[in-house]
Amino acid sequence: MLTREQAIEAVQAVTAQYSAYHVAVRDVIVKDRQVSLTVLTASDELKPSLEAALREALAQAGAETVHCRFRALEAPPAEQAAAPAGAKGAGPVKGHGAGLQSPLLDPRSGVQFIAVASGKGGVGKSTVSVNLAAALARQGKRVGIIDADIYGFSVPDMMGIEERPSVEDERIVPIERFGVKVMSMGFFVEDNSPVVWRGPMLGKMLRNFFAEVEWGELDYMLLDLPPGTGDIALDVHQIIPQSKEIIVTTPHATAAFVAARAGAMAVKTNHDIIGVVENMSYYRNKAGEEEYVFGRDGGARLAETLHVELLAQIPLGQPDNHPLEPDFSPSVYKPETEIGKIYDQLAAKVVDKLGG
Ligand SMILES: Nc1ncnc2c1ncn2[C@@H]1O[C@H](COP(=O)(O)OP(=O)(O)OP(=O)(O)O)[C@@H](O)[C@H]1O
Ligand SMILES: [Mg+2]
Repeated sequence: MLTREQAIEAVQAVTAQYSAYHVAVRDVIVKDRQVSLTVLTASDELKPSLEAALREALAQAGAETVHCRFRALEAPPAEQAAAPAGAKGAGPVKGHGAGLQSPLLDPRSGVQFIAVASGKGGVGKSTVSVNLAAALARQGKRVGIIDADIYGFSVPDMMGIEERPSVEDERIVPIERFGVKVMSMGFFVEDNSPVVWRGPMLGKMLRNFFAEVEWGELDYMLLDLPPGTGDIALDVHQIIPQSKEIIVTTPHATAAFVAARAGAMAVKTNHDIIGVVENMSYYRNKAGEEEYVFGRDGGARLAETLHVELLAQIPLGQPDNHPLEPDFSPSVYKPETEIGKIYDQLAAKVVDKLGG
């Protein structure tokens, strides 16, 4: 019996040898030892060797037949033009952040990194990241945001970004929206397909977001992390040792308990926690009263556990945005709304705590 997991593992062992900009695999289907998969590659030249390697790896894993479909992977032209050495056999990056050249990461750049983390998924990390970024920009700060959720990228969509980054002088120019410079894996994936990469490639992608992107000068760089304490969170800790963290939780006791793990990881890796943001704290009903639909005090208790401040409590509420507005986004609250103002206060607190 060949399981899909085994097939994916075999595929990943092969794709790990290529730069993530050049090769990705999706739609792995396994049925009665027959495997079909879609291979995304930016380079036609890679196809024959890639197919041979995939066939061999899958045969060894127990596949009887292998059907590879090839599709073009949209590579950032800068990468293509530069024909990086990573096209073959690049392997995992040696050492954390080794050889990474980016003025942003130079501690003298003065950029304040803020990673937005949580223990559980779906608590509102991305919502908090984009709204905090927008609020910092409203205060005149130069702000960037990296959607470090490489599998589950959502930032472009949440900010209403439809365009793709351009390339100037072989550097990727981030998209600017609400005064925030944005970079996301979502810009390089066609038709919203799921992405199957291996751990080391995720780290590489993150490195590329620093090394290949023309960020210009920034005061703040936010990183919207994937949920939990997995590889990417660890990568962020290691690539940007100076990064500070905001932990997002809901008021629910379980969410806060799980979030404490993300906090513990920050502590273990010597990252300062700026504070806790409690999201979905309450629902303001028509009578103007606060209803604690998801429980109460999870954020305060988590802040206490981590010995940090509870920076904000954000109520439930969808942004009152309309698709026909010129600056439409599904997830950025307008500054004049109740939640928009809470984000302004959160931004002011962050500036106060970090300076800059
Ligand atoms: N205060 C809020 N009120 C109402 N809906 C919210 C609020 N905050 C977030 N949401 C909604 O909850 C969902 C999850 O939010 P979001 O994507 O920001 O969470 P996440 O922690 O980034 O999730 P993931 O772990 O999947 O990355 C989204 O649909 C978002 O619009
Ligand atoms: Mg998210």
